[in-house]
Amino acid sequence: MADLLDRALVERRLRTRYLGRNLLYVDTTSSTQDVARAEAERGGPVGTAVLAEEQTAGRGRLGRAWVSPAGKNIYVTLVMRPPAPKLRVLSIVSPLAIAEALEGIGLAPRLKWPNDVLVGGRKIAGILIETELSGDAVKYALVGIGLNVNFDVEATPEIADIATSVRRELGRDASREELLAALLNAFEARYEQALEGDAVFQAWRSRLETLGRRVRATLGERVEEGVAEDVDAEGNLLVRRDDGSLAVVEAGDVTLSA
Ligand code: BTN
Repeated sequence: MADLLDRALVERRLRTRYLGRNLLYVDTTSSTQDVARAEAERGGPVGTAVLAEEQTAGRGRLGRAWVSPAGKNIYVTLVMRPPAPKLRVLSIVSPLAIAEALEGIGLAPRLKWPNDVLVGGRKIAGILIETELSGDAVKYALVGIGLNVNFDVEATPEIADIATSVRRELGRDASREELLAALLNAFEARYEQALEGDAVFQAWRSRLETLGRRVRATLGERVEEGVAEDVDAEGNLLVRRDDGSLAVVEAGDVTLSA
């Protein structure tokens, strides 16, 4: 029997004005993205958070699946409505907020561009952002976060080498309620700051393990290889090709070389 998340405990620890104040909690669902989309479509408030104990069709970026066993991890989708020119702050704020929540319990996460969160070189959290536009305006953006907390990753051979969890890193179970509240608190604070200045960008950039490394960035058919030199103000990855020219990579997947 899986442990159920104590909602009241999350709410007691929340310091936010709007994020997670409308907290929808479901036991099993296909994907929290689907539930959040329905909420957003019917005008659910900004900051609505949809949380599931288990997902039967959890999805990751680039059409991948997200392993989502019951009662172990955090699967949450946030409904946001940033102004269109600020849409990309979500890709910066989300991994940063996860990293700060993990730092609060003694871990030392690093970020892999565009928005994976790693501990000890293995992925502990992933982010899927789905955006619905109406003309040039943002109707809503769904920020889906999967954070491996008490998951026994080693017992899941298909991801044991590349994924980790808080439990694997700390050698003990952690409180999902505490982590979720810390994540929501950090997210709202960083999101509000990001709408105003660039302090958040620097906090994100300084945790990027990708910078200075040799990378192979793929986006569909396009492949860029070289050294990840920096990120620009938009969050694009700047890759110095071997011929000396610079590639600006807006999205995609990055493999790090030694
Ligand atoms: C990735 O790294 O590929 C992104 C993973 C995102 C997983 C989360 S879990 C909550 C939300 N619901 C989903 O189906 N996906 C996201």
